[in-house]
Amino acid sequence: LREHEEFTKVKNIATIELGRYEIETWYFSPFPPEYNDSLKLYFCEFCLNFMKCKEQLQRHMRKCDLKHPPGDEIYRSGTLSMFEVDGKKNKVYGQNLCYLAKLFLDHKTLYYDVDLFLFYILCECDDRGCHMVGYFSKEKHSEESYNLACILTLPPYQRKGYGKFLIAFSYELSKKEGKVGTPERPLSDLGLLSYRGYWTRVLLDILKKHKGNISIKELSDMTAIKAEDILNTLQSLELIQYRKGQHVICADPKVLDRHLKAAGRGGLEVDVSKLIWTPYK
Ligand code: ACO
Ligand code: ZN
Repeated sequence: LREHEEFTKVKNIATIELGRYEIETWYFSPFPPEYNDSLKLYFCEFCLNFMKCKEQLQRHMRKCDLKHPPGDEIYRSGTLSMFEVDGKKNKVYGQNLCYLAKLFLDHKTLYYDVDLFLFYILCECDDRGCHMVGYFSKEKHSEESYNLACILTLPPYQRKGYGKFLIAFSYELSKKEGKVGTPERPLSDLGLLSYRGYWTRVLLDILKKHKGNISIKELSDMTAIKAEDILNTLQSLELIQYRKGQHVICADPKVLDRHLKAAGRGGLEVDVSKLIWTPYK
């Protein structure tokens, strides 16, 4: 699959149909060769099987009995749900999701050994079912303390706060594991913007409330954000001074307020009391 990708980096599929949306694609994705002569692919929005024509999809929809992603619902708040899908138990779903995601992810080399990953699928639910909004993937075991491998909000849902919700969710899982985490590199431009936004808001909120000195280590313990990401974020906000060989946080209230005003919207909140989850063993 990797070889195939390397040699044919021309964008193949131009649009996809998914649920009630027709979506223009952004990048090449290495679909199996028999799909490469079609400009448009039709996805079942629940099992993510893809087809070359509408009639095939309609036939599929009559017999597909899924109304939500396969796997466990681990979070529900209002109409928002999160499902955890184990790539080993749902291989085809995991692979379909990777093909779909690659259409919007440029520089990521997706590996299709989905066995090693868990997929967290964010859905908006109504009486017709749970409709995928976006997702992130996470290695079951990461030596580099990655808590997120790939993140995607489907284009019709972008810029509404779902990305920050997914990022916040990934850190909530890390907190439950008692570990710090960081996203896999490289980040895309949009990925970096979203992470910078998330880190900035979380750190500023704490610094604003906290009285007295606080260290980067303490911030990291509270947020599950890796110390390096905290240092970089605070440095870019010019809240770090280097004194006697040490990084010191200088949180002048006026400066904090100025940054908070510029930090934009907070995104959708994760209500931790509605997360029912135990770490993967
Ligand atoms: N232009 C400028 N800023 C943007 C844009 C944009 N088009 N989109 C997001 N941002 C920034 C903004 O700062 C925004 O916060 P704000 O609205 O308060 O200003 C912040 O990112 C997050 O916005 P959200 O609405 O929470 O995020 P969204 O749901 O749009 O998802 C994501 C962000 C997942 C990065 C999305 O753009 C996406 O799926 N992109 C394609 C795939 C991708 O690049 N994924 C990241 C790869 S890196 C990795 O996977 C580890
Ligand atoms: Zn289906």
